Amino acid sequence: MKLNNSLRTRTSTLFYLAATASLLAKVGQAVNHANFKTCEQSAFARRHRLFADTMAKKVAEPNSKNTKSSSSSSADGSTHPASSPYSVIDSSVHLDGHTVTASVQHEQAQVPLHFEIAFLKSGTVRVRVQEVDPLVPRYSEAHKHILRDEGSSLPYASPDDIKMATEAVNGLVTHTVSYVNGSSAFSVRMTENPWTLEYLVNGKPTMQLNTSGLFHFEHLRQKPADGDLDNVDGGWEETFKNWTDHKRRGPESFGLDINFYGFEHVYGIPEHTSPLSLKDTRGGGEGAYDQPYRIYNLDVFNYQLDSPMAIYGSLPFMLAHNAEATVGVFWVNSSETWVDVTRKLNRGGFKQQSVVNTHWFSESGTMDVFLLPGPSTADVYRQYSEISEQTPMPREFALGYHQCRWNYEDQEDVLAVSAKFHEHSIPYDVIWLDVEYTVGKRYFTWDYDKFPNPLGMQQELARNGHKLVTISDPHIMVDNDYRIWKEGNENGYFIKNIGGLGNYEASCWPGVSSWVDFLDPAASKWMGAQYGLDKFPESTTDMFVWNDMNEPAVFDGPEHTMDKALIQHGGWEHRDVHNLYGMTQQRSTFEGLLAREPVAMRPFLLSRSFYAGSQRYGAIWTGDNTASWGYLRASIPMLLSNNIAGMHFSGADVGGFFGNPDPELLTRWFQLGAWYPFFRGHAHFNTERREPWIFGEPYVSYIRNAIRERYRLLPHWYTLFREASLTGMPLIRPMWMEFPAEPDLFAEQDTFMVGSSIMVAAITKPDTSIPVDVLFPGEEPWYDMHTHVAYPAQLTTQFVVDLANTLVFARGGSIIPTREQQRQSSAYMKSDPFTLYVYVDQAGFAAGKLYIDDGETYDYQSGAFIERELTFLGSKLISRASPLTKNTSAHQTFVQKMSGINVERVAVVGLAIAHNVAEAVVVENGTTRTVNVSHSHSSKIVATDTVSNNSPCIVICNPAVFIGGDWEISF
Ligand code: NOJ
Repeated sequence: MKLNNSLRTRTSTLFYLAATASLLAKVGQAVNHANFKTCEQSAFARRHRLFADTMAKKVAEPNSKNTKSSSSSSADGSTHPASSPYSVIDSSVHLDGHTVTASVQHEQAQVPLHFEIAFLKSGTVRVRVQEVDPLVPRYSEAHKHILRDEGSSLPYASPDDIKMATEAVNGLVTHTVSYVNGSSAFSVRMTENPWTLEYLVNGKPTMQLNTSGLFHFEHLRQKPADGDLDNVDGGWEETFKNWTDHKRRGPESFGLDINFYGFEHVYGIPEHTSPLSLKDTRGGGEGAYDQPYRIYNLDVFNYQLDSPMAIYGSLPFMLAHNAEATVGVFWVNSSETWVDVTRKLNRGGFKQQSVVNTHWFSESGTMDVFLLPGPSTADVYRQYSEISEQTPMPREFALGYHQCRWNYEDQEDVLAVSAKFHEHSIPYDVIWLDVEYTVGKRYFTWDYDKFPNPLGMQQELARNGHKLVTISDPHIMVDNDYRIWKEGNENGYFIKNIGGLGNYEASCWPGVSSWVDFLDPAASKWMGAQYGLDKFPESTTDMFVWNDMNEPAVFDGPEHTMDKALIQHGGWEHRDVHNLYGMTQQRSTFEGLLAREPVAMRPFLLSRSFYAGSQRYGAIWTGDNTASWGYLRASIPMLLSNNIAGMHFSGADVGGFFGNPDPELLTRWFQLGAWYPFFRGHAHFNTERREPWIFGEPYVSYIRNAIRERYRLLPHWYTLFREASLTGMPLIRPMWMEFPAEPDLFAEQDTFMVGSSIMVAAITKPDTSIPVDVLFPGEEPWYDMHTHVAYPAQLTTQFVVDLANTLVFARGGSIIPTREQQRQSSAYMKSDPFTLYVYVDQAGFAAGKLYIDDGETYDYQSGAFIERELTFLGSKLISRASPLTKNTSAHQTFVQKMSGINVERVAVVGLAIAHNVAEAVVVENGTTRTVNVSHSHSSKIVATDTVSNNSPCIVICNPAVFIGGDWEISF
């Protein structure tokens, strides 16, 4: 939309300027803690912690009158003293199909709670709780937004496979519900009085519920008269700074302890800046926090490192891991939630095990929690994928490099930056426009003064294989002359004031704004439709979307977000659905982009806020970081935690958003960023320019190499996304995930795996003379991917790494596909030949995969893909179709389209064979031919390669085998 100048001058910039000034004032400073609640300042959280303290005291004084306590003992003798005011109502336990139901109530509050415990086929257990007869309905729809198929068709176990036995020992009644699913036996032991639940896998206890007695369910109640005790504890009203939160339903929170028996490490529940292995949160030990991990999406300026504070996104999925097993917990609730973590380490006692105690508490809604039994990590992700959809195949260009800045000034600037990439032979795929392309931050308008020819600009970019991304935030400027606001207002699409009347209005970038209520399907559809080419005529199908400020950020709201008592679709309070806001905006955008072309093309969008389910819609990034070594280092556990929780497609602003990186930091950030799943450079408008060439030589060459390495490995990244989309396995993985029985790796976070075959040892400290220690895990050799020098397993080696180099190792036993020709963008690589790197293990074996599709449509769902399984043994490399290959007509058409795309080189690294082998035999389509073999490194393989005499590399030159066919190459 082109707006006239008079309208532009009427743009309300006051709020924007004030907000920006306040933002700038804080650059380089620490977060302002006073703006965000501590656990003690959030009334329900304070109540749950106080309850936990009371229960801890009662455990310490077991003769207390007011609680029931018992000592139950599980199969392996894990006695757990339980003390809880909740017990099962006599005779209320029933097994009905795959579900056990029971009524549980507090010893004083005679309000029965309905419990459901259900087994899924994979052994996952779902536990749900709410009042039998709630006074008013609770919000119980979070699962519809989060779970696969809205949670409507979860694969529950067959009732025939589930048995329940009841026994009473010393007055303690225990029900054991057993389920056998072929290979494993699962059982849930539920004690009646007090109510506790223990989950055993093959007879071993793994997760225990309420064994610390912290289950606490604030039943809905009539509003008491003023002055009642309930009011005093913030049950009906609480004040933070200038904001008072009136709670129309009063206290309605609930909490539960989930204890991981036999574990010392828990991971996940992003987004926080804490270490990968989550810290204790109840003080005490060295470095322990005194605040729980908070799960509440917030726009936090200058977010602090090493903190459990909430930031932009969250995903309540946690893993626990020990040398024998990995188990998971998925807490399905969309209100403010906190998680306390404490550990009891016990490494030698007879039958005593370490335990990680976790205490979860949510402000509203119903309790709905999944316990995933593992026991392997792959099992946990299979179980997770059963209940939650996984990352879909992304648009292929999105895996390339993205260049962003707040803001590229004008059209000339955009095209000049693009041309500079070409001039410096640095590939990139996407250039981004921040808020300044609009008329006064009115999204779906276009500032023609700065960007006079939007279509021409996009065509020019597209001619060189590039895409454009423009920002679109969820706050809509209140302005009668602005079509979007007018339509939204007329149709009632905005979030409503407390009480439900009138649009909520508050301040964000454009000034006074209202917020689209994406929970309303009609509003969501309407907003998504704005991405239609008819509605947004300045856009083309080469333009994609960035959803920012969607926690949602509200400059003058409590904690920089919305008042919890605002009313959203269905009459629910914002309190109930706060954490869904960003995700529902992503969904609207995704669906809008999907619908904008007659044949659906895979959308690409980036969001700052996220929640469980966001992985279905696109990428996220870690928001406004700072150009410092600390933020560079912290990006690794942050992105690993996202990946652990299933939010795979994540990145951090390369270079740091605030502040100016020096050339060494910028170079190291590009070198690390090339291994982020989402790879984008971005900077605040107040920073100096820092595009890859700005610092000149030698830095531009180093950065070029880093970006080129990303492009060489795009086939590998794409294949990893394929795996993630099928199995849920993270793209980047903590070391322990690949080496689960090596406790030294359980807290490792400076080194990580990209898939199962590449180990990246990040360099996150200045001063290249300081050596970096790398532990080579497992049993197979590792190969430096640049020099091909081999390192034996279980060796710790020190490396002094100058700025030209990085530490990246291929795992012996893997085959990694690359495309070595360097191009302007990934679009130009589509017809390029492949190189296969074979890194052999000690037995001379290696295996790998390659997945290819058209990179943009959904035809792959009808079989239009090539997926090869590559195996090397002895001196023979074999390519076979993966069993998932379907011989459909779509497959045949795709294979036809790919004909002529060959393997141009096979490099076998680490295989000691006679040097006189001069040729290899290629068998393809029933014919046999010979090709040359060389024994030295070709400088064509990698620009940064150096020849190493002690690691043999056999290069099979141009075997020219079809990438999509069966063949064998032997020498
Ligand atoms: C906040 C985002 O985090 C940042 O990346 C962006 O540049 C600004 N909003 C302006 O849109």
